[in-house]
Amino acid sequence: MIQGEKIRYEIHKILFSIFRFNKNLNDLRIKKKIEENKKEDIAFLINVTLASMRYHLHTLKIIDKYIKKKIRDHEKILLISAITQIVFLNFKEYAVINCSVQIAKKLKLYPGLINASLKNIAKNKLELKEIKITYDDLPLWFKEKTYSITNIEKKRFLKNFYKEPDIHIVFKNIKSLNLFEDDLIKTSSISGFLLNKKNITEKKSFIRGDWWVQDFSSFFPLHNFEIKNKKNKLLDACSAPGGKAFQILSRNIKIILNDKSKNRIKILKSNLDRLRYNPEIKNKDFLKFKEDQKFDTIILDAPCSSVGTIRKNPEIFFKKNAPNLEELNVLQENMLKKASRLLLKNGFIIYMTCSFLKCETFDQIENFLKKNDNFVLFNFKLKKEFNSFSRFIDKNYMLTFPDNVLEKNIDGYFAAYLKKIK
Ligand SMILES: C[S@@+](CC[C@H](N)C(=O)[O-])C[C@H]1O[C@@H](n2cnc3c(N)ncnc32)[C@H](O)[C@@H]1O
Repeated sequence: MIQGEKIRYEIHKILFSIFRFNKNLNDLRIKKKIEENKKEDIAFLINVTLASMRYHLHTLKIIDKYIKKKIRDHEKILLISAITQIVFLNFKEYAVINCSVQIAKKLKLYPGLINASLKNIAKNKLELKEIKITYDDLPLWFKEKTYSITNIEKKRFLKNFYKEPDIHIVFKNIKSLNLFEDDLIKTSSISGFLLNKKNITEKKSFIRGDWWVQDFSSFFPLHNFEIKNKKNKLLDACSAPGGKAFQILSRNIKIILNDKSKNRIKILKSNLDRLRYNPEIKNKDFLKFKEDQKFDTIILDAPCSSVGTIRKNPEIFFKKNAPNLEELNVLQENMLKKASRLLLKNGFIIYMTCSFLKCETFDQIENFLKKNDNFVLFNFKLKKEFNSFSRFIDKNYMLTFPDNVLEKNIDGYFAAYLKKIK
């Protein structure tokens, strides 16, 4: 195989394992496999893999239009990737078609079908580039779980979900923001969107540990949460890779960080080292926490479908299987219950998810409040500098869809502050 074929074959294998075997691009094994390639090939591989997943609903519509016979999963994946390259990434079509035909031969698919359909599609690529996705085209599980969202919210989602994410960063303090060497669209006194997204980890200020990457919407809830007494006991129950915890540590407030995943704790530790923070860390299942130590504030950034981060994690729609929402909902409910037992009177649970699905957000809080009349939903008071973002607060909940702020992309996110009143 020539180099172009080899790297596209790697892309095919990765896409197939995400589609069929529920893997993620960030899984350690896949990451290792990617790193075995030459530096210049890695950027190509990641670009094509991400774009193939982001545009796969568009490309499936194109496949439907051009191929009437039933195709197998391998053919589907090969076509998705090839059409993405031709139509949406504007690559030279003859290279893409030749490589795809060779891969089809290697996989014992129908090279003739791949060749003929891609040539036809390439002829009409300008017109096909304009193909639009409707709500009906989205995965069934997602449509079922978002039946209650408004038409405006649906429209906003359709306009945004397949676009590349922007990079929003948060600084330790105002001084470190003022020292920043590059252009920034500020979102607050300590945060902003990067204008230049290239080689960000090579910037001096990053190596110095002046800032970390954190989406605007996930930064929002804690930035608006005041902690008056610095002696309060705080716990971040699910803390890795660390964004929320860094927000607290940067205010010189102590907090214990916990996460169940060994691998994610490793990433958390390396982030803490770079930022020069040294908090107490636990690597435990939060549900099994002993209840002898109580806290004033528990940050509960619960495991969820992550559908709010669809632009960063396009795997969510690309996988053949839907996320196991029933299992996640039970886990979220149990985590809330556990947090309530570990909380001191007048303390807060800050419940957050990078999801906007009702079952992971409003339903969880409403269900919790129904069962716990010693808790109330606490006022979401906005900092003055966030007055222009008041549209994200509704009835004391914070909710964003994948949306735009200052013409930059933000994730879908949810937060609620729960106060224990007795
Ligand atoms: C949404 S992520 C947390 C993101 C983190 N708060 C941040 O700001 O970077 C959810 C985390 O929950 C962890 N987790 C899942 N089940 C857990 C459990 N039973 N106990 C503790 N952590 C758990 C996962 O390993 C994952 O790191």
